Amino acid sequence: MGNSFGKIFRITTWGESHGNSIGVVIDGCPPGIEISLDFIQHELNRRRPGQSNITSPRSERDKALLRSGVINNVSTGMPITLEIFNQDINNLSYEVIKDKWRPGHADFTYDVKYGIRDYRGSGRASGRETAARVAGGAVAKLVLKRFDIDIYAFTRAIGNIYSKVLDRAEIEQNIVRSPDREAAQKMIELINKVKEQKDSIGGIVELRILGLPPGLGDPVFNKFEAVMAYAIMGLGSVKGVEIGDGFAVSNLKGSQNNDVFVNKGNKIGTRTNHSGGVLGGITTGEEFILRAAVKPPASIGLEQDTVNKNGSSAKIKIEGRHDPTIVPRIVPVVEAMAAIVTVDFLLRQESIKAFNNNF
Ligand SMILES: Cc1cc2nc3c(=O)[nH]c(=O)nc-3n(C[C@H](O)[C@H](O)[C@H](O)COP(=O)(O)O)c2cc1C
Repeated sequence: MGNSFGKIFRITTWGESHGNSIGVVIDGCPPGIEISLDFIQHELNRRRPGQSNITSPRSERDKALLRSGVINNVSTGMPITLEIFNQDINNLSYEVIKDKWRPGHADFTYDVKYGIRDYRGSGRASGRETAARVAGGAVAKLVLKRFDIDIYAFTRAIGNIYSKVLDRAEIEQNIVRSPDREAAQKMIELINKVKEQKDSIGGIVELRILGLPPGLGDPVFNKFEAVMAYAIMGLGSVKGVEIGDGFAVSNLKGSQNNDVFVNKGNKIGTRTNHSGGVLGGITTGEEFILRAAVKPPASIGLEQDTVNKNGSSAKIKIEGRHDPTIVPRIVPVVEAMAAIVTVDFLLRQESIKAFNNNF
């Protein structure tokens, strides 16, 4: 249970971090979509560990193999399977967590729930599982090429250092994926400092979607923002999601927070966008804005107190290869989940379109 996501465009991810391979089955991909394995690989490379000296030096190559659902580079409408072999397997460095629980990680809860745990590289609780989501998201992005919809994410903050400038061209130019070159330098310094201290640091990822048609989202339990928040909260280490002005609305007056409607020539829009592009759970046609709070990775080199499986107190120190921050690596994963949600809603919308001339 719990390994599938989406109603019409539906992904199922499978495999453990240090098993033989991991992958994704995508059901509900429309036929006739050009499936570029190069593009899928490009997306996987953006998430891969070992991209820079601030990400984990594990050298998993993450090469995607296409197993089904495509002929002559075009989707057939049948389930698409993508498989990624795990290459850089070092089970030894995880022996330390076999019988002890890492503070802040999922070891304790998996043991309590299942009574058995794949401790090699955290099993399904590993960030590695998100490679399968990125592969699924890459296919969703290929479907989105049929629409004029543009999805991107970036690092809004690392610790207390914020990207204050949104220069989109800058995002993939620095290793922290900040749209603010000056802030990026400070973020890198902070990450390196934390790394030297054998500690880790959190941050904020921001997602933007441009070109969404008005009308996506199904009240009352499948509101656009609710499903998007569900998708992003499902990523390991995300502890908070806000849409539009988010928590800041609690400090606004209605006259400040209301986005007044204006005629924008070719469409009705709003002058401001405090709502983040959603009203009543349905997209307005304005930009969708979401921010995700990412916690500092749990696996740190500092010695910490913990408890053994037999209940006695113990010390734990994670000597393995771990990221001092995972914020830049979560950026493409957030985009992937957003693409999957968007495609799913576009396909759901078809059933309404048939009866409503407004679209
Ligand atoms: C791309 C990605 C990479 C991650 N890398 C690490 C890591 O190197 N070390 C770590 O302790 N947690 C890492 N995590 C986070 C853990 O998967 C997550 O904290 C753990 O499953 C517990 O879940 P929770 O933090 O949501 O409670 C990563 C997550 C993602 C999405």
